[in-house]
Amino acid sequence: MSITILAIESSCDETSAAVIRDGEILSNFIANQTVHEQYGGVVPELASRAHMQNIVPVVHAALQKAAQSAGEYVNEASVNNLLQSVNAVAFTQAPGLIGSLLVGAQFAKSLALALNVPLIGVHHMQAHVLANLIEDPKPEFPFLCLTVSGGHTQIVLCESPLSLKVIGETMDDAAGEAFDKSAKLLGLPYPGGPLIDKYAKTGDPNRFKFPEPQIPGLNFSFSGLKTAILYFLQENTAANPNFVEENLADICASIQHRIVSILLNKVKAAARTTGIDQICIAGGVSANSGLRKGITEMGEKHKWQTFIPAFQYCTDNAAMIAMTAYYKFLNEEFADLSVGPTARAEF
Ligand code: KG4
Ligand code: ZN
Repeated sequence: MSITILAIESSCDETSAAVIRDGEILSNFIANQTVHEQYGGVVPELASRAHMQNIVPVVHAALQKAAQSAGEYVNEASVNNLLQSVNAVAFTQAPGLIGSLLVGAQFAKSLALALNVPLIGVHHMQAHVLANLIEDPKPEFPFLCLTVSGGHTQIVLCESPLSLKVIGETMDDAAGEAFDKSAKLLGLPYPGGPLIDKYAKTGDPNRFKFPEPQIPGLNFSFSGLKTAILYFLQENTAANPNFVEENLADICASIQHRIVSILLNKVKAAARTTGIDQICIAGGVSANSGLRKGITEMGEKHKWQTFIPAFQYCTDNAAMIAMTAYYKFLNEEFADLSVGPTARAEF
């Protein structure tokens, strides 16, 4: 029997739906919310309202695209056929913004009830890791994954798809926050990570030196870097009000260089202590060109095999929820209709 799962992701400010059949992604539709740009960060109330507006058209678009990928002529009948073939409905259960999570959870529960199929709750950070199993080349178990997003920075030891262990994590800000908060100090709009990446491309990464925190073990800290950047900008703009404008590319390249070096030094330590040489990256910050280049070069130097998801599977997406749900389905890990989402949760 073929296994088809419809998955929904709504943990933050992307509404996404995906369809997976027998471990192959048939569709992955993502609606970004632009309403937050003017506020310098995600406004939770606006995010949940936008999810409510987006969820039906996004799920419909994912079903349409999946019908097309399955080789069917796309009309309402084929979309309905695909929906009727769904064996389970999955959703992001935690962690995330509670109002945003609730929209996806309620929609998934209602649909599972209407279709009379099981429900699968998925941990968002576990799903980011398993994004590495969507496309070839795929890592073999055990592997290490550096998961870097807007809310998390973790080194995860992956023994099997459903057996993941966090062996290092940030003690304060996440790497994505370090990018976004630095960008805010530079007067750039939210989310600033991709913009720092863009300006860094033409800058000199060694022009300005920012401190590397000395944190023992495999844990991270980014709050000291944020403070150092704040003082650096205050001092330099006091001497020259046009300092940021005149040096934007070099500042961005230097900030990115430091964030990436903090991340890669811990990955190196994790590979050394565990003896594992299959290394993946995941999460929104894994879209960063400096990190992608850095991990590839480090892999070549240390003879690791490195894996980087395609861009659409780095930032929040339902395909990664679908992939995790597929393994949970095989393992018969179903959720009760009484489950609710939670803003925080370990996996
Ligand atoms: O995984 P994600 O989409 O959402 C969370 O689960 O948090 O990650 C979002 C984070 C944001 O902080 C964003 O600025 C960062 O990923 N990000 C980047 C890049 N693309 C997204 N940071 C640096 N460079 C990028 N190219
Ligand atoms: Zn995420």
